[in-house]
Amino acid sequence: MKTVTVGGNLKLACVMVGLPARGKTFIAQKVSRYLRWLGINIKIFNVGTYRRRDWGASQPHSFFDPNNEEGKKQREQSAWEALEDMFQWFDEGSGEVALYDATNSTSERRQFILEHCNKKDVQVMFIESICDNEKLILQNIMAVKTSSPDYSSVEEKQTAVQDFRNRIEHYAKAYETITDNELTYIKLINVGSKYIVNKIRGYLESRVVYYLMNLHIIPRNIFISRHGESVYNTQGKIGGDSELSPQGQLYAEALPKLISTHLKTQKLRVWTSTLRRTIATGAKLPYPKLQWKSLDELDAGVCDGLTYEEIAERFPEDYANRDNDKFNYRYRGGESYHDLVLRLEPVIMELERQEDIVIIGHQAILRCIYAYFMDLPQDRLPYINIPLHTLIRLTPMPYGTTEERFFAEINAVDTFRPKPPQTHPSPPTNQ
Ligand code: ATP
Ligand code: F6P
Repeated sequence: MKTVTVGGNLKLACVMVGLPARGKTFIAQKVSRYLRWLGINIKIFNVGTYRRRDWGASQPHSFFDPNNEEGKKQREQSAWEALEDMFQWFDEGSGEVALYDATNSTSERRQFILEHCNKKDVQVMFIESICDNEKLILQNIMAVKTSSPDYSSVEEKQTAVQDFRNRIEHYAKAYETITDNELTYIKLINVGSKYIVNKIRGYLESRVVYYLMNLHIIPRNIFISRHGESVYNTQGKIGGDSELSPQGQLYAEALPKLISTHLKTQKLRVWTSTLRRTIATGAKLPYPKLQWKSLDELDAGVCDGLTYEEIAERFPEDYANRDNDKFNYRYRGGESYHDLVLRLEPVIMELERQEDIVIIGHQAILRCIYAYFMDLPQDRLPYINIPLHTLIRLTPMPYGTTEERFFAEINAVDTFRPKPPQTHPSPPTNQ
């Protein structure tokens, strides 16, 4: 079962546009992570990877000169190979959104892509990133370009920087911004200072536009922590709205120090659910707080307040079905992980707008949030280990997220239930 219904046989190609070091790959990877998390079948086709495979990584800047006929032909060939692979991926069946990541910086190249996509019944949305902030461009070169495989054989960082600047100059000579107002596009100008949106039609296109308008690149940390151990946790019961256990209370007392030790700024916001155990866990934190109903734990319906053993005894068929497909299994009268992802989408959108933040949440909720940042697939999501009394620091990087885990050294029960090695399929009852 899919998380988002896109309708019909939609095939959408998001075609990146922009000079080098304008964040195209960054944007493509973020959009891909977001849509994949929502259950969309998505793939990135990065022309740089084809170019390196076809012609070698260490090409001098002159390779990118539009007056270099041989270089131009070779670059066009790689662009075409990536495009052909994209069409093949769509033809193979379930592909929904492709991100075609290249500079695509001339009208001629974009027209070529458009014509082929039209023939193949693939809709096209251009995402153009424009940036004239020299300081940021240099930062981007230093952050990702000097360490790219293109410069692995270059010893001096400064040599790589200069070569990359020359490469940008070559592209700048031929660059044409999008002016055709018949096209579907969004232009991102100087990272969020201005957007131009044109002819956005479908549901997915508008989701992507809204998502892009929420992104920023200010360095920050997202801390996630489960509530302190609850009375229900000590009894092995799921759900409910119980108080913290004495150990859980100790964690609530230790949390302010644990966070401040690992916090790089003093501007932090705290989000909790509306349940007592998360509110009590965050109570001693000296930062502004917000309670979100959307952060409440997965609703276990008729199983709320039971132990896993009681569920196995009273609802054996449901219990087996959950083990067979935990992401999609919906508790009778309750929710599935699939439902949670939909419930959490506005939270993710708001999270993208925020800077440093701590989320005090619940096991299932934090699995969904963690999977978004770490780009984990739906089948692994319900089995992510998020132990009690552990602060997790997520740091968004140019092409992904890093994580660190800090244990509070306050004992707590282990609520993790691994996937049993063998399960017996039975027909779904309530999907
Ligand atoms: P190339 O054409 O060489 O592949 P690129 O345009 O794909 O370059 P990226 O590799 O994505 O550039 O650059 C990553 C850097 O861009 C990151 O450091 C990120 O912070 C920054 N970045 C992200 N979004 C933007 C934006 N809208 N404008 C400028 N820089 C951005
Ligand atoms: O046991 C703690 C808890 O937060 C329950 O309230 C919730 O039902 C459960 O974890 C979610 O974990 P799982 O999906 O592995 O059952």
